[in-house]
Amino acid sequence: MLSGKHFISLKDTPKEDIMLLIETGFSFREVLERPVKKVPTLSGKNILNLFFENSTRTRMSFELAEKRLSADVSNFSASSSSLNKGETFRDTVQNIQVMKVDCIVMRHPSPGSSLQITNFVDSIIVNAGDGCHEHPTQAMLDVMSLYERFKTFKNLKVAIIGDILHSRVALSNIYALTTLGVEVTLCGPPHLIPVGIKELGVNINHNVDEVLEWADAVNVLRIQRERMGIGLIPSIREYREIFGVTKERVENLKKELVIMHPGPINRGVELDGDVADSENSIILNQVLNGVAMRMSILYHLLSEGDAIK
Ligand code: CP
Repeated sequence: MLSGKHFISLKDTPKEDIMLLIETGFSFREVLERPVKKVPTLSGKNILNLFFENSTRTRMSFELAEKRLSADVSNFSASSSSLNKGETFRDTVQNIQVMKVDCIVMRHPSPGSSLQITNFVDSIIVNAGDGCHEHPTQAMLDVMSLYERFKTFKNLKVAIIGDILHSRVALSNIYALTTLGVEVTLCGPPHLIPVGIKELGVNINHNVDEVLEWADAVNVLRIQRERMGIGLIPSIREYREIFGVTKERVENLKKELVIMHPGPINRGVELDGDVADSENSIILNQVLNGVAMRMSILYHLLSEGDAIK
């Protein structure tokens, strides 16, 4: 059993919940290797994917996870909805709720929106990314992927490099990793690292070469041009020179470094294509673990304790 009804934030999620979700995630990885990749666990449950923002990985992996758990799945796309006729967010969600939806998986550009809808619907809410606030299911698949690679969190050193200020992935990763006792260093332009973030128990180092030398794994973040005003980085070329995880930098290291990225990648900006495609990259494994981890989260929120068959 998880400690909360919803899955909205990793801020106060206990270590026991995180480890339980990882353990169950690996059980579902085995299900995904079977010829028939489906279990009857959530048969009869209705899940709605409510996406107000673009997504490839999160949306697809939630839909696959739901179908592989035998839930009934509906998809909502803001661009083809009555929001375009002036209907409010609250009316939209309440109208959907009365159709007896057990769980809503929501991505929305406003920070706090997932928590907000818990005030006016009864469904279980899963946050699939709320603006530049949190992306807890991404952080859970990230820690699952780290655990798969290193088999322990003890003495592990993880760097998060890039635009920390606009990244929901960064904040959820910081909460999960520090709860697990992992040492975390943030690296990026000073104005893209939030003031006061050190209080969450992380190191800050603006020298990318030092950070790459220090870390066991790096989670490289996208430059989120859609969330920035004009001019927050002087130029893409300059950003790559100072903060890019380039082929040259990685080849100069005297050790193996695990490369992670939540996607979508701006190849040749924050991460060189050769590094993204290298043997030490676990980026596509993160995507695979995304399906298993989302199965794990939905199973624990909705299954009422049924065994995985
Ligand atoms: N990592 C992630 O959230 O990707 P999408 O925006 O494609 O869902």
